[in-house]
Amino acid sequence: MMNCNTSMALVLAMAISCGSALAGNTVSDDQIGISASVFDTPTPTMPAVVGSEPGENALVGSYFDEAPPLIPHVVEEFLPILISDNQCLDCHDAPEEIGKPRAKDDPVPIPKSHYTDLRNNPDKVTDHVIGARYNCMQCHAAQKDAQPLVESTYRQ
Ligand code: HEC
Ligand code: HEC
Repeated sequence: MMNCNTSMALVLAMAISCGSALAGNTVSDDQIGISASVFDTPTPTMPAVVGSEPGENALVGSYFDEAPPLIPHVVEEFLPILISDNQCLDCHDAPEEIGKPRAKDDPVPIPKSHYTDLRNNPDKVTDHVIGARYNCMQCHAAQKDAQPLVESTYRQ
């Protein structure tokens, strides 16, 4: 059986070896963060807007199934979206166009999912865009020429 002194010595030895193992893995401040040092306060540059007026752009699509497609055109002039004024709907709220062939410069009609209250009544396609889909910019992103700060290795 271990006496008190031996177990104390063991605990001490473990503490020292853990400590030195950690010391070997320390990371200096110039290896952390995206700038030269964590102590820098970088001034981000505003990336340029990509895209032109609606009707002039190729669709970008989505990065994976079920993701909201990216917005290929500029949006600044249509924002902010207000209860009294949602200009996205002016062009995209066209349920009669769903499933029909689309000319290159026509808006893509808002899909049936956006006319359906998926939470309370998932089987009924209504005649209006559901409130949860009203704020388009919550899910659909416009395009900027921003270089990734950290490369993503995610693939579809
Ligand atoms: C003046 C009409 C118009 C307005 C207003 C408009 N769009 Fe568009 N939208 C288009 C057209 C046309 C396209 C097809 C691509 C193109 O030519 O730019 C499009 C494409 C899109 C797409 C791509 C769909 C897909 O299947 O890839 C999304 C998403 C979109 N718009 C969202 C929006 C949002 C959000 C707003 C409001 C901030 C908006 N649009 C305002 C006309 C419009
Ligand atoms: C809660 C997130 C969310 C909101 C809010 C939202 N969308 Fe979407 N949208 C999606 C997703 C996810 C898809 C792709 C899956 C689908 O079709 O339902 C999509 C698809 C679309 C498409 C492509 C349709 C097609 O046939 O390719 C258009 C156009 C679109 N949305 C327009 C809009 C507009 C305009 C608004 C605002 C009135 C809006 N969306 C609000 C999530 C959203």
